[in-house]
Amino acid sequence: MAKQVIISPSILASDFARLGEEVTALDKGGADWIHVDVMDGHFVPNITMGPNVVAAIRPYTAKPLDVHLMIAPADPYLEAFAKAGADHLIVHAEAGPHLHRSLQAIRALGKKAGVALNPATPVEAVGPALDYADLVLVMSVSPGFGGQSFLPASLERIAAVRKMIGRRDILIEVDGGIGPANAAAILAAGADALVAGSSIFGAKGGYAAAIAALRKGAK
Ligand code: DX5
Ligand code: ZN
Repeated sequence: MAKQVIISPSILASDFARLGEEVTALDKGGADWIHVDVMDGHFVPNITMGPNVVAAIRPYTAKPLDVHLMIAPADPYLEAFAKAGADHLIVHAEAGPHLHRSLQAIRALGKKAGVALNPATPVEAVGPALDYADLVLVMSVSPGFGGQSFLPASLERIAAVRKMIGRRDILIEVDGGIGPANAAAILAAGADALVAGSSIFGAKGGYAAAIAALRKGAK
């Protein structure tokens, strides 16, 4: 049986004035996880939300909150995001010199530990830390903004990460420029989970239809 793709819609593209309702609508529309993009205006050239926002949306879904930390340093904020109700905490390999320490700290907080890779970072950067990770997030655009085009070289990078993971129990998530047209290629390269912002929030016909279209595209 073909593996079931995990869909993690990014609320970066949602209506922030109605964030709770948006999260519930994604949940009811069939999202598997809810992707939360945290940006600090320093690691990436944009500012979004912090632990308070994670705590505010927590009551609106029982599904995993997939929190992508585009912040440096990340370590001082891990506990606050964990307490706010994050389920996955994803730090960037480029965000600090001590990746093992960050991943160990996340696991010690009882959360799934993820490591993200910018498109220009050699995939080998995560190799030594794989025994401490539950998730690898391959960025398929430069982080900071939604609505960018998928970088084609990401496919080879996903395959390389898959090879490095080997038999470890680690999921590969891919983030940026994903829609029904490229989902199958991304899955075929070795991804398990797809993040999607614009292709879900920009679609006509509602979130359930957009999530279904992404699932269908991934087949
Ligand atoms: C980019 C973020 C993404 C973004 C994806 O920095 O990490 O999660 O919201 O948006 P789309 O799907 O529009 O590329
Ligand atoms: Zn993201």
